[in-house]
Amino acid sequence: MPQTQPLPPIRSARPAMTAEVMARTGLDEAVLARLVHAFYAKVRGDAMLGPIFADRITDWEPHLERMVAFWSSVALMTGRYHGAPVPKHAGLPVTWDHFERWLALFRATADEVCTPEGAAHVVERAERIARSLHMAAVDTQRSGSVPSLG
Ligand code: HEM
Repeated sequence: MPQTQPLPPIRSARPAMTAEVMARTGLDEAVLARLVHAFYAKVRGDAMLGPIFADRITDWEPHLERMVAFWSSVALMTGRYHGAPVPKHAGLPVTWDHFERWLALFRATADEVCTPEGAAHVVERAERIARSLHMAAVDTQRSGSVPSLG
């Protein structure tokens, strides 16, 4: 029987990337939790967005926890979120105006809660995701079916 060499350990670059982003932006789980809670407090009180969320979310705690995991994955690359946001937004009665409003509230909250570098980091990602969720919503409004994006 041939001698097999022990395999080298698999090293993920992710923890190093997470540490680098945290050091550069000041973002961590606690800051992201504050960002998410403060942001959805604004959303819930907003005349344009509040009713859309109120019609669909009755129990806010699981939603807020999911959103902290989402931002942890998106901003810090922790892989904590395992979900599919596109189908959840595909059927919403929204136009780009709603996404603009969402982004305006998100930018304002990020400026209040994060360092300038942290705010720039999360806002850039929110803008990119908002554009793709908007496309998914518009596609569904046109065709009536949910696009197959993750
Ligand atoms: C017009 C703007 C938006 C509206 C009205 C909206 C509304 C909603 C609603 C009602 C839910 C709950 C869906 C459900 O549980 O059935 C949800 C979930 C979620 N939203 Fe949004 N959203 C908007 C924009 C965004 C943006 C820009 C992002 C990301 C940057 C985002 C990320 C998410 C995520 C990650 C979830 C959780 C999906 C899951 O269940 O895993 N949303 N949103």
